[in-house]
Amino acid sequence: MTAIVEQDLLNPDLYAAHGYPHDVWARLRREDPVHFVERPGHESYWAITRHEDIVAISRRPDRFENGPRLVMSLEQGIGDEFPVRMLLNMDPPEHHAFRSLVSKRFTPRALRQIAGQVDGIASDILDRIDIRGSLGETDFVESVSALLPIWVIAEMLGVPRSDWERLFHWTNRTIGAGDPEYREEGKTPVETMQSARISLFHYFNDLTEERRKEPRDDLVSILANSRIDGQPLPVFELMSYYLLLVVAGNETTRNATSGGLLALIETPDQLDLVRRDPGLVKPLVEEVLRWTSPVIHFCRTPNEDVEIGGKKIRAGERLVLFYPSANRDEAVFDEPDRFRVERRPNRHIAFGIGEHFCLGAHVARLELEVIFRHLVERLEWVELAGPVERLRSSVVGGIKHMPIRFGVRAAA
Ligand code: HEM
Repeated sequence: MTAIVEQDLLNPDLYAAHGYPHDVWARLRREDPVHFVERPGHESYWAITRHEDIVAISRRPDRFENGPRLVMSLEQGIGDEFPVRMLLNMDPPEHHAFRSLVSKRFTPRALRQIAGQVDGIASDILDRIDIRGSLGETDFVESVSALLPIWVIAEMLGVPRSDWERLFHWTNRTIGAGDPEYREEGKTPVETMQSARISLFHYFNDLTEERRKEPRDDLVSILANSRIDGQPLPVFELMSYYLLLVVAGNETTRNATSGGLLALIETPDQLDLVRRDPGLVKPLVEEVLRWTSPVIHFCRTPNEDVEIGGKKIRAGERLVLFYPSANRDEAVFDEPDRFRVERRPNRHIAFGIGEHFCLGAHVARLELEVIFRHLVERLEWVELAGPVERLRSSVVGGIKHMPIRFGVRAAA
């Protein structure tokens, strides 16, 4: 393993230019699954690439903490200068107290109540695509996959429809600040992110006041009126909570949607299978999650000396969990490098596992099921109409643009 290859694993330019380095991760899993990476001028870290090790680490939040540092990347500044106090970087017991405030709203049962709305939102989005006759051409990311997650979480939060576009604009800048395309003119990535966050905070501060006066049946009303140990949430924690809910499911679900359609374009036999048997939409969604694995890495920090995979790791050293690598681990998945819509079981960990298991996992699943069901029903055929452009980030793998050409079914 040359130093260059190792350093590249956290280099956002690598992800923009080539997508995920699955060949390097496969070598690491085989030859050195708990691998020390030295980075001159940057903090060193341990690259954890096996499914088994990531699961074991994630299941011990008492020993491996999220708090000290959640992401390590060469996009220095993103996340570090402006720490927010949110679930993802809290540890037990505080983490549980905060998570349980809204967790009931994210169960499959609770989400059944909004399934109809999500279906309506997906339908509206697809109806807006420009189609001449039965033929259409569009940037799938801009016109479909980017809109669905933000509109759904906006609906859950209780943000009025007239403000959805503004919310979309701010979240793009918050998440994609490391990519020149989303940067505000004349501003650095950090400045771009900071000004977008300030706008979001102002907006949610006003909405909080409104919902305190007149609570409704939405997430902002719940959080605005919640108490921990008898006290309302401090304003910074409250704003961080909204921010997390707005951004966490955005780029991730967007990329699963785009990457999922890309996988189906590349494997037309798999698309045919789902067309013939719509019962395959659920396993398709799980395979899309495994295949796209939108979160590239999160960190854990041991609070005592530990041994993992025969390596001695000292308290305070950084562990970088590479989820996409775990999701191609040949010890867990047959033919891991094949996209198979009938894969069962599918023990992917795209949503993480354990204490911090993605709060929005069932929201994401619902969105993906709804959108892929519509796509499979409506599309007669679909192909790429130009190059796929990827996001410059080593935290969330994203597709920025994916031009497609398609024909719709006569009945649709
Ligand atoms: C395909 C889409 C998604 C993927 C791949 C994904 C992935 C993840 C991962 C890997 C984690 C962290 C696990 C860990 O540290 O162990 C996480 C946490 C989280 N996600 Fe998601 N996520 C997705 C969609 C969503 C959506 C739609 C929402 C909100 C509506 C959401 C909200 C959250 C929150 C609030 C956390 C923090 C949970 C905690 O720390 O307790 N995510 N997600």
